[in-house]
Amino acid sequence: MDKLEVTGGVPLAGRVRVSGAKNAALPLMAASILADGPLTLANVPRLGDLRTMGRLLRHMGGQADLHPPGPDGALAEEARLDLRSLTRPEAPHELVKTMRASALVLGPLLARHGQARVSLPGGCAIGVRPIDLHLKALALMGAEFDLTGGDVVGRAPAGGLRGAEIRFETVTVTGTENVMMAAVLARGRTVIANAAREPEVTDTALALQAMGARIAGLDTDELVIDGVDHLSGAAYRVMPDRIEAGTLLAAVALCGGRAVLLDAPCEEIAAARSKFAAAGVKLERAVVGGQEALTVESPGGRELKALDVVTSPHPGFPTDMQAQFMALATVARGVSLITETIFENRFMHVSELRRLGADIDLQGRTAVVKGVDRLRGAPLTASDLRASASLLLAALAAEGRSDLFRVYHLDRGYDRLDEKLNALGARIARVKDA
Ligand code: EPZ
Repeated sequence: MDKLEVTGGVPLAGRVRVSGAKNAALPLMAASILADGPLTLANVPRLGDLRTMGRLLRHMGGQADLHPPGPDGALAEEARLDLRSLTRPEAPHELVKTMRASALVLGPLLARHGQARVSLPGGCAIGVRPIDLHLKALALMGAEFDLTGGDVVGRAPAGGLRGAEIRFETVTVTGTENVMMAAVLARGRTVIANAAREPEVTDTALALQAMGARIAGLDTDELVIDGVDHLSGAAYRVMPDRIEAGTLLAAVALCGGRAVLLDAPCEEIAAARSKFAAAGVKLERAVVGGQEALTVESPGGRELKALDVVTSPHPGFPTDMQAQFMALATVARGVSLITETIFENRFMHVSELRRLGADIDLQGRTAVVKGVDRLRGAPLTASDLRASASLLLAALAAEGRSDLFRVYHLDRGYDRLDEKLNALGARIARVKDA
């Protein structure tokens, strides 16, 4: 297992390109199950969760070629998927336990093959994270489920899934994606009310449309899907990762300096952008080389103002940016109130931030963070994906040396984040840990 040796106190400067979105590429890879032809994805980031999804699709008997070497020998940021040879409609425990998003194959398997066996995802560091809402919605479309040996075994009716009126009692991102992917091949019309509006849901819908699906209401909380008989293959470019962009923005805000984020999804991170701007970070949208770019300039975390944040479903402040914002709050001037409304245990980074000298008091779902004059380096242990990003950012702002252990949490969800930060002048050494 690797560790990162971080020397803090260095301002950041330069240019870095934002990679493709993990949380769009995951449903898009699952969508390949629906297609009667190959699905080629471009701008696919190189990270652990996508390699796991590739292993899962191959386990099913499909072809999933991730990041094939290009003519120059460099690994292409591409996925070539062809699931026509699928023989095993199942997602076994050893794969699902490492990535709960494997549940995203449930809807496509039921729609395309009429059956599915998916290991029930266990909880994870940030909460219980059940899929009861997914199952309830799919049952309204005629699917029947049994729980056998920790696996959800699902069957579609003989004539296939049928369209239904569905209302999610809680906004669920992968729940919306699962049902949307089931509905595109169902008989008749499906309406999903209280649908998630995350940009990654829209990206999945756009790819499905390119494959021949009929979906209306994109970017709204009501999706209307008219089932079709089959979907063809397609070529699709995955959207840029708004959470990686927000994480890089937070790094420059905290360390101080000036950087240009290339291919930054500015619109999709509007809520985070406005919070950082209100704290005193200078942000400017631009077009560089024909692509959206975001220029970030900051005097450093200690010169920024404390701010309150409450996470909420898109277009609100994203829960996936909460830990990174908290890293900034540890040194911003004043007291920040950070409230997490989506997950019941997404404050795993708090105890580790305190080891750097942060002053954080937890009061239920709200963290009261008082800015301190300085953070001092210390050994740190990552616990979940965004917590590890938060600890890395705080270590970059701390005086002296910090070692970040269990970096696999970071590598599951970021495409070489340490290399990107080093390209901006950070001093991070990746060391093979014993
Ligand atoms: C997606 O997870 C993202 N993952 C998460 O990103 C993100 O934090 C989350 O949405 C919220 O935006 C992917 O897209 C692969 P939810 P998801 O269903 O779909 C409860 C990251 O860091 N719920 O929107 O699993 C659930 O427990 C990851 O990249 C039920 O109770 O989240 C949670 O409290 C972390 N029953 C809330 O709803 C269900 O059936 C929102 O969860 C489903 C969800």
